[in-house]
Amino acid sequence: MRILMVASEAAPFAKTGGLADVLGALPQALVRAGHEVDVVMPRYRGMPEGGDPFSVPLGPQTVDLRVGQTTRGGVRFAFVDAPAWFDRDALYGMGGHDYADNPERFALFGRAALEWARAQGVTYDVVHAHDWQAGLVPVWLDREYVADPHLGRASRIFTIHNLAYQGTFDASWLPRLGFGWDLFTMAGLEFWGRMSFLKAGITFSDRITTVSPTYAREIQTPESGFGFDGLLRFRAADLVGIVNGIDYDRWDPASDPFLVERYDVTSLDRKRANTVALMRELGLPEVAGSRPVVGMISRLVDQKGYDLIAALADELPRLDATFVLLGTGDRRYEDLWLGLASRHPDRFGVRIGFDEGLAHRIEAGSDLFLMPSRFEPCGLNQMYSLRYGTLPLVRATGGLSDTVRNLDPVTGEGTGFVFGDYLPQALFGTLRWALGIYTEKALWRRMQEAGMRQDFSWDASARDYVSVYERARA
Ligand code: ADP
Ligand code: GLC
Repeated sequence: MRILMVASEAAPFAKTGGLADVLGALPQALVRAGHEVDVVMPRYRGMPEGGDPFSVPLGPQTVDLRVGQTTRGGVRFAFVDAPAWFDRDALYGMGGHDYADNPERFALFGRAALEWARAQGVTYDVVHAHDWQAGLVPVWLDREYVADPHLGRASRIFTIHNLAYQGTFDASWLPRLGFGWDLFTMAGLEFWGRMSFLKAGITFSDRITTVSPTYAREIQTPESGFGFDGLLRFRAADLVGIVNGIDYDRWDPASDPFLVERYDVTSLDRKRANTVALMRELGLPEVAGSRPVVGMISRLVDQKGYDLIAALADELPRLDATFVLLGTGDRRYEDLWLGLASRHPDRFGVRIGFDEGLAHRIEAGSDLFLMPSRFEPCGLNQMYSLRYGTLPLVRATGGLSDTVRNLDPVTGEGTGFVFGDYLPQALFGTLRWALGIYTEKALWRRMQEAGMRQDFSWDASARDYVSVYERARA
């Protein structure tokens, strides 16, 4: 099959979260399975400029831009270079505010992706769009490209990586983006009186996927559906949850170039050197590394459970543990962690920022990894943790439920620690339980080994995507 993927980020070119990890690995897994994959994304600041010229319609105007290309792991990546829209400090916005022209930016991007694809002289079997930023792609396929010999017969697949980001804007954007008011209906792009790119993607696609089976069920309920549960129940027969894989070329402690000491399941003792180095890197005293080290790496947003941490701000420093955090996001959560670090400089190592190398070193240098998410479509860091012999402590939600097995104290089976209720006491109780288990060295080691031996490779997930594509084509 020939597949066109459209997404707003892909590792290693540009990344703010897990979407980029998926686009950096799934296409290559599909190529390994014998398919041809092109990925189109915007050219952001810092990426190579230029490429072939294209004129792209955007509502009443026509935009002249360029599309550059490179090949990686057998996947062709194309970069839409429109500097006025994408050559900016950040991908989506600054200082907690989205760029006001995001609807125009991502409409232009999606349309440019299709214009580029049409010019390649090949016939696509599948167009696979990801998240709200690519949500208009299936609408145009339906409205503007049905007679196109290269794109007209392609099945339309849409993946929801996070239902909380809906690309919802004032309805006055519709004509500015070139759409008629006939689309402003409940069966079209209208969402509670506004227009939604995410709804466009769901409504105009043949099949919808999301990134774990549990999340696929959760988003059909009013509690987790963010207003989309009715639509998703209506499309339930076309909706499937496929858990993300992890990219073992980039996340493998046996070959990770970011680590001071590499290790695998047969040489777990070498993990220790990474803990020592991590304490030094974060300016923590050596003694901090002799306590169990609890790591966190994430966007500092409500989704990730930081209000639970805030409620435990006085409790955590009293535990026999050292906490390490890497993240950026909401100011109040940055301040919370910086405050903890300044009050307890021997127990809290905090780095506000985005740092790929440090993310790897925290996975390797920690003993426990904390992901108390309120909701989590899939989550990747818990899988990286399992791979790095770092036991995940997670809340039972979405992909966290599908990838971490709670310790069964009777049998000693399990790969991590899981709590259910979204309450500070539930998190705290489970954390204390985990720290207690840490002193039972043999059991801890057994859990580490069980996690490290699990197979989260992309190939199995890629097969599931292929069967979704095949069913859509049938
Ligand atoms: P989400 O996509 O919701 O942010 P995921 O767990 O799926 O959550 O993926 C997050 C990805 O982004 C992981 O690869 C994680 O290591 C990375 N990441 C998040 N914050 C940072 C940061 N501050 N520095 C480096 N990597 C980060
Ligand atoms: C989203 C979700 C995360 C998921 C990622 C990749 O950002 O928040 O849970 O792992 O997409 O699918």
